[in-house]
Amino acid sequence: MLVSATEMLNKAKAGHYAVGQFNINNLEWTKAILQTAQELNSPVILGVSEGAGKYMTGYKTVVGMVNGMLEELNITVPVALHLDHGSYDGCYKCLEAGFSSIMFDGSHYPIDENVEKTTELVKAAHEKGVSIEAEVGAIGGEEDGVIGMGECADPNECKRIADLGVDFLAAGIGNIHGKYPANWKGLSFETLDAIQQLTGDLPLVLHGGTGIPADMIKKAIALGVAKINVNTECQLAFAAATRKYIEEGKDEQGKGYDPRKLLAPGFEAIKATVKEKMELFGSVDKA
Ligand code: G3H
Ligand code: ZN
Repeated sequence: MLVSATEMLNKAKAGHYAVGQFNINNLEWTKAILQTAQELNSPVILGVSEGAGKYMTGYKTVVGMVNGMLEELNITVPVALHLDHGSYDGCYKCLEAGFSSIMFDGSHYPIDENVEKTTELVKAAHEKGVSIEAEVGAIGGEEDGVIGMGECADPNECKRIADLGVDFLAAGIGNIHGKYPANWKGLSFETLDAIQQLTGDLPLVLHGGTGIPADMIKKAIALGVAKINVNTECQLAFAAATRKYIEEGKDEQGKGYDPRKLLAPGFEAIKATVKEKMELFGSVDKA
């Protein structure tokens, strides 16, 4: 059964580890992530961007697929199904479809409008027992058409949004979606520290988890990050493994034209990436 992400993230914050959010695109992605979480006895959050939701034909299809897998794969670790970077309308659609967690990304609105819309969505989510993440200070880079500037959030604005009763908060601290450029200055731990001082026990979320060096991840967790989002890294691993398989010519001789064979190396590559991240984030055996 899907659960809200509130309890798993409060436990993570108190226990000084982080739960990974891994974005899904299709059946293989979802199965690879769920199986790895179960094997490692780790809680996990399945992230669905609005673009990926559309690609998978709609939120109801996603809910049906995930619920079916939880049952038929005998998944017993805590799993939340979370809308990633949701719009105002997207949040309502996911509440209706049966998601157990949503993110309202109002970071591109003026702060007063972000506050107003977040307030309304906190009420709507909590009435259904669904957890809600909000964002302050756009995350850099581009993800599924959502383009952020990579700014550092204003800690006072973070406090304003945190006080609305959100369950966890994403704040820009110099993090960027996708690959980090060679001249990236790194995370702003000064900003993160200031945000954590003002928001207390609230679990903080680090977006753009792909390619952040391990020491920075550990420091961020020590400063209150309890959820880390990873998307591009699974895509890179899947693409590299699939390309290698095809380039080695196995697609003909080994009956690699069978989609189940063709997708297998990518599936294993996602599993390996998720395992590595869960170990780094410290969520293994925390289910
Ligand atoms: O919301 C999802 C993420 O922040 C993922 O970022 O693609 O850089 O790993 P990433
Ligand atoms: Zn993100």
